Amino acid sequence: MRVLAIETSCDDTGAAVILDGRKILSNIVSSQVSVHQKYGGVVPELASRRHIESIIPIVTEALEMAEVTLREIDGIAVTQGPGLVGSLLVGLSFAKSLSFATGIPFVGVNHIEGHLSAIFLEKNPPRFPFIGLVVSGGHTSLFRVNGFGRYKRLGQTKDDAAGEAYDKVAKLLGLGYPGGPIIDELSRTGNPKAIRFPRPSIGKNSFDFSFSGLKTAVVNYVKAHPEPPGGYPKELIHDIVSSFQEAVVEVLVKKTLQAARHQELRRIVLSGGVAANRRLRQRMQEEASLEKVEVYIPSPLFCTDNAAMIGVVGYEFLKRGIRSPYSLNAFSNLPL
Ligand code: KG4
Ligand code: ZN
Repeated sequence: MRVLAIETSCDDTGAAVILDGRKILSNIVSSQVSVHQKYGGVVPELASRRHIESIIPIVTEALEMAEVTLREIDGIAVTQGPGLVGSLLVGLSFAKSLSFATGIPFVGVNHIEGHLSAIFLEKNPPRFPFIGLVVSGGHTSLFRVNGFGRYKRLGQTKDDAAGEAYDKVAKLLGLGYPGGPIIDELSRTGNPKAIRFPRPSIGKNSFDFSFSGLKTAVVNYVKAHPEPPGGYPKELIHDIVSSFQEAVVEVLVKKTLQAARHQELRRIVLSGGVAANRRLRQRMQEEASLEKVEVYIPSPLFCTDNAAMIGVVGYEFLKRGIRSPYSLNAFSNLPL
């Protein structure tokens, strides 16, 4: 079964062709970083406009790269939510129109479920059940994953998502957008122990997160150390971001392992843009191996938003005969 997958939940236009839910025939991601960079964050109205311009060329490119025509596509999978509603509507309306015009069945997919399933694009995917951590610009949640479509949410952030904290700290320090990859890189040469930022933790037996206090701690640190003429020395910036990152990573690792223990599971799957982070990948592996817990992390390309992961989930639904009606709507807060 060949599935054409479409993802437009935020600021990337994605289209992919996936064979039998596992093999990538094509996976195109058109980034809008250049559009939003000067604003230091995603401008929703600009994002949806850019999706409208990109969707047809990107889908065409995905089909061409996969060397298939629409006649050889058996199903269409499209992100229904959560995300920016204007962005979601572009992909969803396009997918519905294409389905209506061609008669190819289509199915709406939850973006979070897509992230959690990106690991199935890799060679040795985990068996169910497992603990799934989704860490992105919009979400920081822990799930018990029992199978496709079978999730139990254990906890989530009460305020900022981890990626959002990265982006806000980078913006505060004037480092650029998106902040995650930039801080990841600059942290390489920083001292993670230079500044002891708080490790926000909500209750001992809770799997919820909170990152806004940590962001405020960085703001307060910067206020207490006014910028000297000529700017902050590079070393100080690297120490600040490295110390900030260490606090984020420590909390994510601790809570995820705690969830694994609580659910008596020995498999952990990381997903979402922040799962591309070098330090998080390293620390999670190190700490989990001490407890003989296996860690599965998709390659960075499948951590950040992409359509291939939507195709994995779409295939699982379509092969069970599940279809969405043309009345399907986009929801910015679609729950999982
Ligand atoms: O999953 P994603 O592409 O989009 C959402 O669904 O939000 O995640 C984007 C987020 C951004 O906040 C970005 O700064 C962060 O993931 N991110 C990273 C890294 N790469 C992307 N954060 C930390 N380290 C990275 N290497
Ligand atoms: Zn995402």
